[in-house]
Amino acid sequence: MKFFIDTANPEEIRKAYDMGVIDGVTTNPTLISKEKRDFDSLIKEICGIIHNLPISLEVIGLKSEEMIQEARLLSQMGENIVIKVPMTPEGLKATKVLTSEGIKTNMTLVFSPTQALLAAKAGSTYISPFIGRLDDISQTGMELVGQIMTIMNNYGFESEVIVSSIRHPIHVLEAALIGADVATIPYKVIEQLMKHPLTDIGIERFLEDWKKVPKK
Ligand code: E4P
Repeated sequence: MKFFIDTANPEEIRKAYDMGVIDGVTTNPTLISKEKRDFDSLIKEICGIIHNLPISLEVIGLKSEEMIQEARLLSQMGENIVIKVPMTPEGLKATKVLTSEGIKTNMTLVFSPTQALLAAKAGSTYISPFIGRLDDISQTGMELVGQIMTIMNNYGFESEVIVSSIRHPIHVLEAALIGADVATIPYKVIEQLMKHPLTDIGIERFLEDWKKVPKK
């Protein structure tokens, strides 16, 4: 399973990239706004950190013509820019055009298996079901991922499924067990994934015991 990092914070991206655990970055307008920085310079900095890995940037326009125009500009900001398009009829229209132009897309705000099916048919490179937001309203988000993966495999669609809106390590584990293509993960959850109290205790014990080894 690929790991994308779900943030627009250059420090977090650098830390995860240096550990060798990320395969791409996803952002959205909320994550961008948290950085309180000029958009162009922020994206330039992110592109400079992760060469050759996909970076999802979201369009703001609601009409397909606006989305397409924005996407063309955004895709010039760096190599491997992926355009995040909302799951609407206009978003589907834009996806069809962008795909025909060779621009990679990520259909975002997907909350049902039939929305994912439409995104795949329109040719979206990635499809992002938001599981945490479904959990928030008492629906099991991970069931949606299972359904979408079944549909993708039934018909051999090429779209990759990005498990999105991840809130904790169990989400990542379940996504991997289902066989999702990608999980986009906040930095805090990446840290949680690597933590284990027995690892810390083990290191401490080894260091203590090493002190008892006679040395010249
Ligand atoms: C995905 O691409 C989105 O940026 C993200 O996962 C949304 O997560 P949230 O529901 O925690 O805002």
